[in-house]
Amino acid sequence: RFFTIAICVTDQYVLDDKVGLGRVFDGIGGLSGGGATSRLLVNYAEPYRSQILDYLFKPNFGASLHILKVEIGGDAQTTDGTEPSHMHYENDENFFRGYEWWLMKEAKKRNPNITLIGLPWAFPGWVGHGKNWPYDYPDITATYVVSWIIGAKQYHDLDINYVGIWNERNFDSKYIKLLRYTLDKSGLESVRIIASDNLWEPISLFMLLDQELRRAVDVIGAHYPGTTTVLEALKTQKKLWSSEDYSTFNNEVGGGCWARILNQNYVNGLMTATISWNLVASYYGELPFGRDGLMTAQEPWSGSYVVESPIWISAHTTQFTQPGWTYLQTVGHLAHGGSYVALTNGKGDLTVVIETMVYTQRTHDHSVCVRPPLPAFNVTSQNTTFQLKGSFASLAQLQVWRSRFNFKTQKPTFFEKLSPLKLSDGSFTLNLGEDEVYTLTSLTSGLKGSFPDPPPSAPFPTTYKDDFNVANPPFTEAPDFADQTGVFEYHINLTDPGPHVFTLRQVVTQRPVTWATDADQTISVIGNYKWENLTVSCDVFMETVKTGGVFIAARVDKGGQSVRNAKGLFYWIFSDGSYKVTNDLAGQAVLAEGPSGTRAFGWHTLTLSIKGQYATGLLNGYPLWKNAVVLGPKNGWAAIGTKSFELAQFDNFAVKAE
Ligand code: GAL
Ligand code: CA
Repeated sequence: RFFTIAICVTDQYVLDDKVGLGRVFDGIGGLSGGGATSRLLVNYAEPYRSQILDYLFKPNFGASLHILKVEIGGDAQTTDGTEPSHMHYENDENFFRGYEWWLMKEAKKRNPNITLIGLPWAFPGWVGHGKNWPYDYPDITATYVVSWIIGAKQYHDLDINYVGIWNERNFDSKYIKLLRYTLDKSGLESVRIIASDNLWEPISLFMLLDQELRRAVDVIGAHYPGTTTVLEALKTQKKLWSSEDYSTFNNEVGGGCWARILNQNYVNGLMTATISWNLVASYYGELPFGRDGLMTAQEPWSGSYVVESPIWISAHTTQFTQPGWTYLQTVGHLAHGGSYVALTNGKGDLTVVIETMVYTQRTHDHSVCVRPPLPAFNVTSQNTTFQLKGSFASLAQLQVWRSRFNFKTQKPTFFEKLSPLKLSDGSFTLNLGEDEVYTLTSLTSGLKGSFPDPPPSAPFPTTYKDDFNVANPPFTEAPDFADQTGVFEYHINLTDPGPHVFTLRQVVTQRPVTWATDADQTISVIGNYKWENLTVSCDVFMETVKTGGVFIAARVDKGGQSVRNAKGLFYWIFSDGSYKVTNDLAGQAVLAEGPSGTRAFGWHTLTLSIKGQYATGLLNGYPLWKNAVVLGPKNGWAAIGTKSFELAQFDNFAVKAE
């Protein structure tokens, strides 16, 4: 006979500010871009769009983010699409392109104290003088980046707080110093530099060996640091940030990942800011890294959106701390798995965040992030006693907020306010289960914000039309088009007497300094990835004589970093008087070709119909080719585009899908 004796062990932890404080907290944030991750958000109708923004930015409501980092658009593919540059050409400046300006202003409206960061992934081709490299003319690159910061202030009254170098690509010490110099010379001494938005090394070592570089860089930003840092980074005595992290599917495991790294990035790696890639999953779900945002808003046509668990996990920290609060030194791991951090505003307030996220590989992947790989670790339920000392010894009670992932029952509860904990002798006891997050705080603010349920999810409409006839569009891009190479903008033909005054125009004329493998053609996709049988039509206008070309397409199967390898059904006409039908964007797999009589600087109407394996094409309403056999792909988006980086216009785009 066996007897089990249950011993109730309580692990003891001390929270004390008198032993000295830790680092100053800089905030929790989200990243819009890198790239085009907020593309569909701007097309939401009110009130849904404002509701989504409230869940992200409104203080004491939802994620209540402290930091918004955005891509400085470079006209190139940067993961889920391209974002437009404020300088497509050397002599061009326009600070009203894209949606990042708008997003920053919406964030600022809700939280005037939000920290703003800009970082380039790619640059327009002229910045590199035609070379795929931005550092041969560092003065040009620095001026280009600083002009974005100046424009932010001049046209939008936005103060950019931090700027980066080149996302996850090489840095150049000379360029970083020149950027510092150019900022200072422009009266932007208060703008801080983050480097190098890649790994801890080699930037940390370079900074230790180069005084001037060390002075120029204010924050070492590492990506996906796996909660740890390196000795050299610590030796620089600079702020350490996880300047991009998460990138995980936003189901409960994603929430678990976020909970674990928000705490442990400080506990293990002394990082004082963590920024989620991405802010909000507002791009077609079939593009790379679908739903890797703090919440999901990928259906502007229905108005449906989902407030996912990472929003409430963010709230556990963001609603009860602010940049400028200080971590206590008494933070750490729990004896039976999990971690705790504690922060104070230096005025007697205390916020403690505890997480007990499990990860055992295969059986309980409750907190794995997309990268880096994670060693398995054991977490069991545990009794903990926290003893408050120093300034906190006399606190009489703490407010309690709790999330329980409940992976077994699949009935999670997020960000619940429990009754306050009364402290006796400055201590409290908590029985922690697996996969829980607690906030204990002296602050009495905090709210689980809510709105009435948004409309139900619905597929992209099967009948869709756009004549681009908008005199003063709020955005430069037409709704729902997701540019994958090149940039497609609303355009006005001032001298056009006829029906094509308002059009959509591809405007990138030179291959950018790329971040991903952009196609050699330009392409913008739209619609429902599940579409099989459909008719696409569009009026097209080439602006390049002899060598120009444009296409419309159906069943386009790839975007993002894979756009070069996109397959589908592509119907092209060229300004040399010919047409082609190809199975690929690259234009190599030819299904049909012949003369078309098409020329630049005249409008043509293309119509493409596909049903099962057979496709037919019309030119100006007359059959040009028929019964092209398409064996695959079976489905995909509709698309428009050009043969190369060339100007071309599109009008009266229409889809009728089955
Ligand atoms: C990062 C990159 C982002 C995005 C993300 C996807 O490395 O900076 O733009 O591609 O990966 O996980
Ligand atoms: Ca029009």
